[in-house]
Amino acid sequence: MSLSVHDQVQADLGRLVPLLEARYLMPITGGEAATLGEAMAYSLKAGGKRIRPVLCMLAAESVGAKAACALSCATALEYIHTYSLIHDDLPAMDDDDLRRGKPTCHVVFGEGQAILAGDGLLTEAFTLLASDETLPPSRRVDALRVLGEAAGWQGMAGGQSLDLEGEQLTRSGSPVGLAQLQVIHRLKTGALLRASLELGAVAAHAEPEQRAALREAGEALGLAFQIRDDILDATATEAEMGKRVGKDEGRGKITYPLLLGLAGARTALQEATERALCQLRTLPYPSSLSALAKHLAERSA
Ligand code: IPE
Ligand code: IPE
Ligand code: MG
Ligand code: MG
Ligand code: MG
Repeated sequence: MSLSVHDQVQADLGRLVPLLEARYLMPITGGEAATLGEAMAYSLKAGGKRIRPVLCMLAAESVGAKAACALSCATALEYIHTYSLIHDDLPAMDDDDLRRGKPTCHVVFGEGQAILAGDGLLTEAFTLLASDETLPPSRRVDALRVLGEAAGWQGMAGGQSLDLEGEQLTRSGSPVGLAQLQVIHRLKTGALLRASLELGAVAAHAEPEQRAALREAGEALGLAFQIRDDILDATATEAEMGKRVGKDEGRGKITYPLLLGLAGARTALQEATERALCQLRTLPYPSSLSALAKHLAERSA
C-alpha cells in the first residue's frame, strides 16, 4: 500500500532530519572564536525545514544509493543555505529581525558577528565536504565544484545581487519584468535547489542521464520553491512562517504574485512542479522525491 503524500513526506523527514542534525554541532564547538561558533550554531539550530539536505539525500536514494552517502553534501548545503539567510536578513539586504521563529543573527550577535557567521558557515561547508573521506577524491572534487558554482556569483550570490538591483530599479520607476524575475529566481534560489539534487547524484555515483534528470528537476523545483515563497509572503502569517511577511511589496520587490496575480503565480508554480515531476519519473526510485516536490508546491511554511 502506498502512503499519502503527507505521510510519505513526514516519514522521510522523520528519518532523515535526525540523521542530518546529529552531524551539525561537530565542527562548530570547541574553536577559539567562541562567539563566532555560537553565532553560527544559533542560526543553524534555530530550526528551518531542512529541505535542501533532505532533497539531497532523497536524490541519492532515488537512484538506489543510501541516504548516508550524501550526508556531507547535505550538511554543506544546509550550512550554505543558513549563511545565505543570515546575510539576506542583514540591514543592508532585506533588513529582517525574525528568522526561523527567532530574532535574526545580527539582532542577537550584532552585524559584524553575523557577517562573520555567514562567512564561517560558507567556508566550513567546503571544509567539511573536502574532509569526507568516504567519498572518493574525484567525486569529492566534483561535489565541491557543483556546490561552489551554485553558491557563488553564477548562483545564489549572483541572484541576491540581481535581487538588490531589482529593488533599486523599482525605486527608480523601471521595475524588472517576468523574464528578468525568472533569472533572479533561478539564481538566488534555484541554483542551490538544483545543486541539492545534483549533489545527491554525485554522492550516489549516479549514471550521467540520472544526474541530468535530477539537475533539471532541481532547477524546476527551485523556481517552484521561490514562487511559493513569494505567494506565502503575500498570504501567510508570521506565526506560520517564522519570519516577517508582507515584506516584498513594502521593499519594492518584484514577485510572481505581483506580476501575474495570485492565480497566475499558482499556475506557474504548478507548471514548474510538473516539469520537476516529469524528470523524476525517469528515475528508478522516485516516490519519496516526488512526494516532497508535491508537498513543497502546497507548503504553508
Ligand atoms: C527561505 O528558504 C529562503 C528562500 C530561498 C525562499 P527556506 O524556506 O528553505 O527556509 P528555512 O530553511 O526553512 O528556514
Ligand atoms: C532569499 O529570498 C533567497 C536567498 C538566497 C536567501 P527571500 O529574501 O525572499 O527569502 P526570505 O523570504 O527572506 O526567506
Ligand atoms: Mg532576499
Ligand atoms: Mg529575505
Ligand atoms: Mg521571501
